[in-house]
Amino acid sequence: MILVTGGAGFIGANFVLEWFADRDEAVINLDKLTYAGNLQNLASLAGDERHQFVRGDICDGELIARLLAEHQPRAVINFAAESHVDRSIHGPGEFIETNVVGTFRLLDAVRGYWNGLEGEAKAGFRFLHVSTDEVYGTLAADDPAFSESNRYEPNSPYSASKAASDHLVRAWHHTYGLPTLITNCSNNYGPLQFPEKLIPLMIVNALGGKPLPVYGDGMQIRDWLYVADHCRAIMRVLDGGKVGETYNIGGWNEKPNIEIVKTICAMLDDVRPRNDGASYAEQITYVTDRPGHDRRYAIDARKIEAELGWRPDESFDTGIAKTIQWYLDNGSWTEAVQSGAYREWLDTNYADRTG
Ligand code: NAD
Ligand code: DAU
Repeated sequence: MILVTGGAGFIGANFVLEWFADRDEAVINLDKLTYAGNLQNLASLAGDERHQFVRGDICDGELIARLLAEHQPRAVINFAAESHVDRSIHGPGEFIETNVVGTFRLLDAVRGYWNGLEGEAKAGFRFLHVSTDEVYGTLAADDPAFSESNRYEPNSPYSASKAASDHLVRAWHHTYGLPTLITNCSNNYGPLQFPEKLIPLMIVNALGGKPLPVYGDGMQIRDWLYVADHCRAIMRVLDGGKVGETYNIGGWNEKPNIEIVKTICAMLDDVRPRNDGASYAEQITYVTDRPGHDRRYAIDARKIEAELGWRPDESFDTGIAKTIQWYLDNGSWTEAVQSGAYREWLDTNYADRTG
């Protein structure tokens, strides 16, 4: 049995589904169900006794201690976080609360539980913290990709809060001996991603006849990884990662944002042409840049390949085709997550960006 936090969000839900495709070990799934968490993501597990969902907050140390005592998991994987950079710019408080205070409360409850374990249960226990490449800051065009030994130089409230959480995990290992693992991954895309992030926003807006808002000159570079590949990498690290170590995970797939948006438009032109015969690319609109916008991220994923034999299975072409098809087939999912709060968010984020 393992305990997963944030397992109703994009990566967490994909992880739980991939986990059961790979093995039968039970999962306790603790999620607060913020705007980003959605039980519909786990609908295919209804009635499946291997999966137990608990609504709760990682800031609630007593709840976590109770769950650990009751279920005796052999590992905890922490996905729970506030994850959207633009939201962290408009309102950093919740990022500090969940990503920093929440990780602290979770670590402390896990430490208490782990201290009480004995023998093999204690030696085999793992706390895996899921983090981001954004902790390393930004790269110039000709800089080498981020390796595990890069300095932490976070630039947004989101990345600063994730950097703080990574430091806490590191300290709980060095000071208390908690058997931790950290993964720092690049930009994910795929099914179940909330349409506030670049790829799903562009697909959903294109199909809805809305503008496709490209920040600044659109030449910022991200290293895109299909979400199932990230999930498989996490399993690999859980199974074989060295305690106390960090593993960078990336797609070997750097692309400027504008190229991503144009690729989506061209693919939609093929599979779901606009009624007027024009290209979706006509909806592209350049808008005011994100404050403090990091120019380039790129992951050097050689360590996880050399030590654990992981490489991504999907190319960008296959991954983006699957993703677009998923959004075409799951319009009701998109409609369901586009609540009043979602529309309010779009008004807040894009109101002052026009022109
Ligand atoms: P997401 O925003 O889609 O999902 C986050 C989930 O955490 C939601 O289900 C939400 O309800 C839950 N949650 C939030 N606050 C909580 C709290 N206080 N207690 C319990 N649950 C809470 O995020 P995601 O994109 O799935 O990211 C998951 C993790 O992976 C995050 O830690 C993020 O930093 C990291 N990450 C994301 C990416 C990416 O490209 N999306 C890349 C690298 C790392
Ligand atoms: O690098 C990993 C990180 O990737 C994760 O840690 C974060 O949780 C995840 O949100 C993501 O952060 P980004 O800021 O890179 O992702 P986002 O999808 O918000 O933006 C990707 C790029 O696209 C970025 O350069 C900003 C740009 N963008 C984004 C939106 C939403 C636009 O040009 N227009 C938009 O409307």
